Amino acid sequence: MLTDLVRRSNQGEIDKDELTSTAFLLLIAGHETTVALIGNGLLALLRHPGQAAALRADLSLLPDFIDEMLRYDGPVRNATWRFPTEPVVIGGQEMLPGEPILVSLLAANRDPAAFADPDAFSPGRIGEPHLAFGRGPHYCVGAALAKVEGEAAIGRVLERFPDLALATDPAELSWWPSAIMRGLFSLPVRLHG
Ligand code: HEM
Repeated sequence: MLTDLVRRSNQGEIDKDELTSTAFLLLIAGHETTVALIGNGLLALLRHPGQAAALRADLSLLPDFIDEMLRYDGPVRNATWRFPTEPVVIGGQEMLPGEPILVSLLAANRDPAAFADPDAFSPGRIGEPHLAFGRGPHYCVGAALAKVEGEAAIGRVLERFPDLALATDPAELSWWPSAIMRGLFSLPVRLHG
């Protein structure tokens, strides 16, 4: 797909800005995020064997699990920069026009004022929307696609490998060194018991 886009750019069908922004969209916004959802989500599941067993027994619960994976350990640490256009007070702190604001989505998703027992992995939370896909006019346009991809990947892995288990101490796992993204370099697992 990228080769085709480069070819169209060379032929003048799309300009360089469209080419780079579309490549960024496909690789970062569209791909890395979903890779991280699958890795972080499987890690959460494998660290909660009781929940994993409940899901294996009834895969129709997958959408609830994917939502809780997104809340509990989402792929995007911080939203993109915001700059107020007029003075605004956030959490008691006055921000002036033009000052940069970085919203921590991971912290918001563990906010005890928004979620009961926020550090618990509890699929099926009702009426507690998470911020993993942002909020408002810039809400992720790929949210529905990402959820379907997560359901397909995690559902198939569970079906195919009934004895799937973590093959490392979670403290040994290493994470991408990124201020924006939260994803695993690798997730060592044992496929067969
Ligand atoms: C689990 C996977 C994903 C997560 C956690 C995620 C997360 C986010 C977040 C938090 C934002 C809002 C950023 C902000 O307000 O500063 C966003 C925006 C966006 N996402 Fe995703 N995303 C995911 C998958 C995808 C996919 C699959 C696509 C496209 C194929 C995509 C395309 C976009 C685009 C184009 C925007 C910008 C929307 C705008 O500014 O109007 N994302 N995403």
